[in-house]
Amino acid sequence: MLRKGTPPQSGVHCPGTRLLKTAGATERTIADAAALIRDGRLVAFPTETVYGLGCDATNDAAVAAVFEAKGRPSFNPLIVHVATITAARELVAFDDRAEKLADEFWPGPLTFVLPRLTDCPVSLLAGAGLDTLAIRVPAHPVARALIEAADRPIAAPSANRSGAVSPTCAEHVAESLGDTVDLIIDDGPCAVGVEIDCSGPLGDKPAILRPGGITGEEISMVIGALAEAGDAATPRSPGQLESHYATQTPLRLNAIDAASGEALLGFGRDLPDADFVENLSPSGNLKEAAANLFAMMRRLDALNPAGIAVSPIPQEGLGAAINDRLRRAAHG
Ligand code: TXA
Ligand code: MG
Repeated sequence: MLRKGTPPQSGVHCPGTRLLKTAGATERTIADAAALIRDGRLVAFPTETVYGLGCDATNDAAVAAVFEAKGRPSFNPLIVHVATITAARELVAFDDRAEKLADEFWPGPLTFVLPRLTDCPVSLLAGAGLDTLAIRVPAHPVARALIEAADRPIAAPSANRSGAVSPTCAEHVAESLGDTVDLIIDDGPCAVGVEIDCSGPLGDKPAILRPGGITGEEISMVIGALAEAGDAATPRSPGQLESHYATQTPLRLNAIDAASGEALLGFGRDLPDADFVENLSPSGNLKEAAANLFAMMRRLDALNPAGIAVSPIPQEGLGAAINDRLRRAAHG
């Protein structure tokens, strides 16, 4: 809960030698955290399910920093957290069933996967290039206060390094991500302690993508039958899809030149000549390249070139996730 006037415990020393930026959830901490978010920095914050590693969902570079901190070798799309259903409606297209479910379960531990609106300001990288976005209005008062103070949608995966268990208290976050996060808002253990349902996409028959604190029966009571696991209609999680962000234009990877008619998706200095060039990062910075990846792929694709030649990307840090994405797109 939000406590007025409790002094923040900034700079708490934990075993080991690191100075961790953990602070109690006071109004002052929330204001500091909101300023950090607006500044493109990373803040771990409690929700009723698990702690999230939050950033400004509209800032590509901040989203890239989240993927870097997670240390995952691929881009799994992030959940976008907003304070109200009105704010959610500005980002994604709600249908009747989503309206009913939101009415029943929001704020709370339920995430919808819905189509992005065309003018949706959320970073393409946050949605990992998909046409849908996972969106949630959390009930936790600290999460809500942070989103409101930041005055923008907050993208947040669970605040753990890839492969580690989901964090249900601030200490878990510090152990897993202490080096990379700018501030951890400590508000004790999470209440629900399991991650949430991803209901969606709300197509013909909605399906639960990940079981959580709200059951399938509870959801069926509001919107009727759900698709069974294993149904052909059941969407698989984005990480399983081989080519879910394929470009229309064929990609040629590890290209050191561009053929006539090909556009170039470059990386680094001294690029070969091409009629159309987008450079993921002239200075060879992988975080910048991740931030630009989806927008640049789409821009080149829209030009309808004969092909897109892609410069080699080093297979280190975020480069692994970038290469994973490019390989999937190339196989589409
Ligand atoms: O309780 C939670 O869900 C926590 C709190 C912080 O909100 N968040 C969380 O995020 O656990 P994460 O990134 O660990 O898991 C999000 C899941 C992933 O499995 C991802 O693939 C799925 O949501 N997801 C996100 N966007 C999606 C989309 N557009 N379509 C399908 N699945 C999506
Ligand atoms: Mg997770």
